[in-house]
Amino acid sequence: MGTSFTVRACANIALVKYWGKRDAALNLPAAGSLSLALAALVTETTVAFDQRLGADLVELDGGPAAGAALGRVTKFLDLVRDRAGITTRARVSSANRFPTASGLASSASGFAALAVAGARAAGLELAPRELSLLARRGSGSAARSIFGGFVRMHAGDHDEAAYAEPVTSSLLDRVRMVIAIVGGGVPKTHGSRDAMEHCAATSPLYQAWLDLVPKDLATAEAALATRDLAALGELAEANALAMHAAAIASRPSIIYWRPATLALLAAVRMLRDNGRAAWATMDAGPHVKVLTTIEDADHVARALSAVEGVTATTISEPGGPAYVVERG
Ligand code: PMV
Repeated sequence: MGTSFTVRACANIALVKYWGKRDAALNLPAAGSLSLALAALVTETTVAFDQRLGADLVELDGGPAAGAALGRVTKFLDLVRDRAGITTRARVSSANRFPTASGLASSASGFAALAVAGARAAGLELAPRELSLLARRGSGSAARSIFGGFVRMHAGDHDEAAYAEPVTSSLLDRVRMVIAIVGGGVPKTHGSRDAMEHCAATSPLYQAWLDLVPKDLATAEAALATRDLAALGELAEANALAMHAAAIASRPSIIYWRPATLALLAAVRMLRDNGRAAWATMDAGPHVKVLTTIEDADHVARALSAVEGVTATTISEPGGPAYVVERG
């Protein structure tokens, strides 16, 4: 058996969303995006290539993977094998170290960890940018999870140009994110992959969304450069609402929100009216993530916990880059 590599990668939450692909096969985004890595949401993945295996053996969160989940991992490992010039099958074990029963799943941390562990186990020495390009093939947002802190994803005009890179900002020392989990046991209605495609094909607001993203990216980057948290927060909340507006306008509609999602948005607005730092963002699910400061994080978490329908809140620090924790 080859050397095994265990890698940890953090999930990330986009402040300027990735929503729409230019090329589905290569997973090329239709526009850029910008995110914050979260230390509280970590995936740990171990990969070892083993000559004795006739097929990839994949374990996800303690159970054997099958069907579409297994297919996605095998397809991704095929990219690694092609690159390394090997055909050996792999043993993969991956677990989300997310807050208990959070209802969050992350393709971002998962594919970033798989990219780094898979590449190393296959004997590849890839630079961070190459790892980002590789992770993107698993999931668009995974390209950002190779790096820590604030991360900018480039749309690029060809395959090798669509990678992510870190954006330095002293704001990183001030920020926290509060994750409010909306319960209710409603299964995820639309995976981001299909939802993006459906939105691009049917939403009358999709083109307006695409026109907006470059402007929002410029505003977000200016806010990071000038350490203007309020400008960054306002922009992030507006950008998330624009993404959801485009999704909601799809035909038939894609609505990720639950009643508690709207109650959380109202609570965040009230926190702001009371002088707290709090700006909301939402992804392909009902949960609300709130950008805040170290000073206000506890207060914000308490206020959001009190909202009906919220089953858990977690305060997260910014996360670091994907890294190897063990080789064996
Ligand atoms: O990378 P994917 O396919 O999981 O898409 C991520 C989509 C959003 O979470 C809604 C936005 C984003 O930029 O992370």
